[in-house]
Amino acid sequence: MRSCERRATSVARVLLALALSGAAAAFRDQTALNHNLDLVKNVPVLPLGLHRRLRQQQHDLDDDGARTAVADPTTQLVFDASNAMKDDYETRYFDQRVSHDLDVPASPVNATFKQRYWFDAQYYKPGGPVILLDGGETDASERMPFLRQGILQILAQATGGIGVIFEHRYYGESFPVTNLSTDSLRFLTTMQSVRDSAHFAENIKFPGLEHYNLTSRDAPWLYYGGSYGGAKAAFARSLFPKTWWGAIASSAVTTAIEDYWEYYEPIRKNGPTECIKLLESHSALIDKLLGFNNDFITSSLKNLFGLGNVTSDVDFVNALTIPLSTWQARNWDREVGSTAFAEFCDSIVTNTTPSEPAEHLLSAVQDAWPSNPGQAFAKFASYGAYIKANVSTLCPDGATQDECFGSDVYDGFSLEDASWRSWSYQVCTEWGYFIGAPSDADKPSIVSRLLTTEHTSKLCRLAFEPGKRNSVPSRPNVTAINQWGSFDLEYDRLAFIDGAEDPWIYATPHSPHARKRRDTNKKPFKLIKGGVHHWDENGLVDPEREPKEIRKIHREEVEFVKQWVKEWQDRGKWHTGPWR
Ligand SMILES: *[C@@H]1O[C@H](CO)[C@@H](O)[C@H](O)[C@H]1NC(C)=O
Ligand SMILES: *[C@@H]1O[C@H](CO)[C@@H](O)[C@H](O)[C@H]1NC(C)=O
Ligand SMILES: *[C@@H]1O[C@H](CO)[C@@H](O)[C@H](O)[C@H]1NC(C)=O
Ligand SMILES: *[C@@H]1O[C@H](CO)[C@@H](O)[C@H](O)[C@H]1NC(C)=O
Ligand SMILES: *[C@@H]1O[C@H](CO)[C@@H](O)[C@H](O)[C@H]1NC(C)=O
Ligand SMILES: *[C@@H]1O[C@H](CO)[C@@H](O)[C@H](O)[C@H]1NC(C)=O
Repeated sequence: MRSCERRATSVARVLLALALSGAAAAFRDQTALNHNLDLVKNVPVLPLGLHRRLRQQQHDLDDDGARTAVADPTTQLVFDASNAMKDDYETRYFDQRVSHDLDVPASPVNATFKQRYWFDAQYYKPGGPVILLDGGETDASERMPFLRQGILQILAQATGGIGVIFEHRYYGESFPVTNLSTDSLRFLTTMQSVRDSAHFAENIKFPGLEHYNLTSRDAPWLYYGGSYGGAKAAFARSLFPKTWWGAIASSAVTTAIEDYWEYYEPIRKNGPTECIKLLESHSALIDKLLGFNNDFITSSLKNLFGLGNVTSDVDFVNALTIPLSTWQARNWDREVGSTAFAEFCDSIVTNTTPSEPAEHLLSAVQDAWPSNPGQAFAKFASYGAYIKANVSTLCPDGATQDECFGSDVYDGFSLEDASWRSWSYQVCTEWGYFIGAPSDADKPSIVSRLLTTEHTSKLCRLAFEPGKRNSVPSRPNVTAINQWGSFDLEYDRLAFIDGAEDPWIYATPHSPHARKRRDTNKKPFKLIKGGVHHWDENGLVDPEREPKEIRKIHREEVEFVKQWVKEWQDRGKWHTGPWR
């Protein structure tokens, strides 16, 4: 199996999950957190073959109860919550409609499936809100730590609220179908999922709390989501305002974008200057060398990077993007964040003595460095050495490099394949987010220009064989998403929180392409300085140890949410019955 670059998306995400479960045992007592799970959603890397192999290794390790040994460069280190916390929070199941869309009826028509959730009512006081955290495109059990620390716990404690983690259909264990064939994926749309949350809020009876009126008719419901889940929070508040009293949309990608080359822009603009300059010039050089179409030069180049057996040139350059996804895996919390990006940059700005085959390459590229070819080549060789040591080694013994880094095979549609397949389907049908080089040759790029949308969307054509009742369109219909407001989406009691250095910022209302807005308690609009992907979601058990920017955003979130809840209580009817 191989994979495809952008499928990497899901793949990388999966890895995350991997990392999650792996570290679990060792960190059972830590308050976990994980977090950027989602985003990794579209991290532009891990091919399917590699994803599967790392996942398998992880499972094997889990069976041994050992800490993860798989160096997955793209994920934040996360701790497995499901083991650590399953004793604390019972898994619950809600009878959800298989379809909310009459045009795509379930069979039988009103069929339901079990949708997973967890809740914590320890802080609850009558009149307090119910705060739902969207599991996004991940196994939601990974987010259980947020019941104990981080945004859900913070808001529940501050408002006398109930924290709920709600799993997305087609992820984790919440499946309305028994396989993931193209036909079976027909109930997977963003709108179906936004409606799941609304139907839940309108109908849930929390076990043990039946004596309270806690549906959205009688209690203020607040929606929190990060990344794709953040976009859902924003859509939920604006499309179902009677169900959702308020929402916090963190790193909310409210704009679907087919060619999302701008993923790399925040990295290019905020990464260490010398490192970024080298990545730009190395990428251009690699394209030039591959452009000679000379077998000897090409294989010397691939060998320098430890990827000599990767047949396709595009698969080769795609593998070089793997370290870049570690930018997104950064977190202010060392327990969950990755420091791999800094290590990567540190190592590529140093000089490495070129090895034998590199000398041959040197002569092929003399004209690229007229002034000091030896010195320039030493930097290039460092890049090669880093990839050789840290990327090519991800491919386990027994697998060929084409099996790990290739992008031609996307097979498998059992529920087990949800880790790569569900989000890939959403990307191919509605979201896009194909991540590669800018198609405009005048724009600088830190990745190879062989990474075109044509290539990065290959998965969509290979993974989803047309079925009888459903097929994947030739291009994602981003209008299905962007009709809900895109960069302009706003609503009372809908907060947008973003990170200034988030690779996803170009898809959020804080995009440089979006209009400027004011930040008010009614429509909070906040940017975390130096922040990456939904950095407000996580928190420490001891908030005093959080960095200043994080304490600040949490304080502000508590302030506006308290005000929103007070507005609801001031309507004065909550204790006497339905308020609408
Ligand atoms: C499905 O549910 C709707 C709404 O509850 C109801 O009106 C309809 O009769 C049901 N249809 C079937 C076939 O059970
Ligand atoms: C997938 O599930 C559907 C519904 O259960 C079933 O009809 C179909 O045969 C399955 N597809 C495959 C290829 O197993
Ligand atoms: C719940 O609402 C009903 C009316 O809708 C009301 O009679 C009842 O007193 C409420 N219960 C509580 C605990 O507020
Ligand atoms: C590359 O392929 C050759 C020939 O099949 C094999 O001997 C070698 O071990 C492979 N190297 C890597 C790193 O996969
Ligand atoms: C990269 O590989 C080197 C050499 O094996 C190792 O020391 C380093 O920790 C690796 N870095 C990362 C981020 O995995
Ligand atoms: C794309 O989605 C929009 C909004 O749902 C819909 O009106 C339009 O027909 C869709 N376009 C295609 C080509 O399916």
